[in-house]
Amino acid sequence: MFALHGPTLTLRLPAPADAPALLELAGDAEVTRWFSWGPYTDVDQPLAYIARAADRCARGEQLDLLVEHRERGPAGITGLSEFSARDGRCMVGTWFGREFWGTGANRESKAIMMRLAFELLGQHRLGSYSNPANERSTRALLGVGFRHEGILRDWHRHPDGWLDVNVFGLLREEWEASDLARVEVRVEGVPPAAFTPPGALT
Ligand SMILES: CC(C)(COP(=O)(O)OP(=O)(O)OC[C@H]1O[C@@H](n2cnc3c(N)ncnc32)[C@H](O)[C@@H]1OP(=O)(O)O)[C@@H](O)C(=O)NCCC(=O)NCCS
Repeated sequence: MFALHGPTLTLRLPAPADAPALLELAGDAEVTRWFSWGPYTDVDQPLAYIARAADRCARGEQLDLLVEHRERGPAGITGLSEFSARDGRCMVGTWFGREFWGTGANRESKAIMMRLAFELLGQHRLGSYSNPANERSTRALLGVGFRHEGILRDWHRHPDGWLDVNVFGLLREEWEASDLARVEVRVEGVPPAAFTPPGALT
């Protein structure tokens, strides 16, 4: 069991039993509008995603967590990916069902993911992307302390072609100095074994 408990949210590994809730949340085309996938139309799609996420987690490629509001139930997914063990960095990405937008769930979940990345996994840098047309996501990242670092051209492949992305970064010392580092997070268990702090430079 690995779970991270913030003031109102619990982040934990997704399980097949979460598929109906994910279908409901990401069955909304507004939620998946900026993604290369979705909206979900059948429970087999979130079930396949949950199986893929478990494989990627076992391989140390991507650590996706279900965000669960302790009173309102599942809210969405947030995950760490693109790990560089050499450089101690990874990227964070998030989606929530629309009823959780603007509720503070994003801020709390980012505080929890920053704790996971910097403290539990020993990362030095946490990055994120947004579609330059996705102003809500861009503003949300700036609002939790990420710095806009530039635009990567034709970075992301979608069904209708290659898309530019905004790239953002947050360094460990910037997180340590921020209010988000003060959010209470209780850690239950240990992160999956495939995710370990960066080793010595060779
Ligand atoms: C991106 C996401 C996780 C952010 O969570 P959220 O709860 O909506 O974010 P917040 O409400 O904390 O912040 C959104 C910010 O954008 C602003 N905003 C909202 N709509 C906007 C718009 N159309 N144009 C510009 N800014 C907008 C809000 O005012 C807020 O800024 P502020 O804090 O300075 O007032 C959530 O919207 C989501 O799941 N979206 C769908 C999936 C997605 O796009 N994920 C990101 C992929 S990069």
